[in-house]
Amino acid sequence: MAVLEVRNLSKSFGGLEVLKDISFDVEKGCVVAIIGPSGSGKSTLLRCVNQLEKASGGTVSVCGMELIEGYKNGKPVYAPAETLRAIRLKIGLVFQNFNLFPHMSVLKNITEAPVCVLKKSKQEAEETAVGLLEKMGLSGKANSYPCELSGGQQQRVSIARALALNPEILFFDEPTSALDPELTGEILKVIKELAKEKMTMVIVTHEMAFARDVADHVIFMDGGVIVEEGAPEQLFGDTQNERTKQFLQRYNNN
Ligand SMILES: Nc1ncnc2c1ncn2[C@@H]1O[C@H](COP(=O)(O)OP(=O)(O)O)[C@@H](O)[C@H]1O
Ligand SMILES: [Mg+2]
Repeated sequence: MAVLEVRNLSKSFGGLEVLKDISFDVEKGCVVAIIGPSGSGKSTLLRCVNQLEKASGGTVSVCGMELIEGYKNGKPVYAPAETLRAIRLKIGLVFQNFNLFPHMSVLKNITEAPVCVLKKSKQEAEETAVGLLEKMGLSGKANSYPCELSGGQQQRVSIARALALNPEILFFDEPTSALDPELTGEILKVIKELAKEKMTMVIVTHEMAFARDVADHVIFMDGGVIVEEGAPEQLFGDTQNERTKQFLQRYNNN
């Protein structure tokens, strides 16, 4: 069974249609990279799947649970609150700008949701957090505050925070685009490790070499549609699509 199924998803902001008939699946243990120019709808797609934005058409299912039951007068009818909550718990999300709680220590950032949402004991949540910090190469940073860390370290904390809820699928929205090149490498390394462990992931990225290396499947979006999708070797190495070629050319010339 696919962990994520997106079917005919569309989204408009007023008269502006930013997603048009988007369909794809993400199988368990697979890594899907989404590439495409700025404004092509990548973030909106992630936001619709993550309940941060309301869809205008289509359906999304996470681990077999339907997010949207149907449409009434053009408006989506979402699943009951209980199902929405269950779906939310299956999903981890890592943003471009880390979005850590600035007034909380690293440890508290990671344990907050497991304690408050999953009702784990403080001790259990802290043990998990310490393990995750070690995995992220951040042992010794538990009591630091976000402002005391580099961007790369903050992003690794936010990955640890997402993993602390033990999600079935992790979404990344340009996880390295706010980072200097040398800090980008440390994040890409962590994501590669997660891929090796067969974490199911959807990664929006501008790092083409990374996408080619880590993804099982690549989706190229432009103008709110999926222009082309396929295996990385095919899409990066042997595309016949003019729009894909044009887009990739920009990166190859850099
Ligand atoms: N809240 C919003 N209101 C109106 N337009 C939006 C909103 N969010 C995104 N858009 C528009 O939707 C399009 C797709 O944006 P986005 O999903 O952020 O693209 P990407 O992540 O690929 O750069 C853009 O034209 C953007 O201006
Ligand atoms: Mg975006």
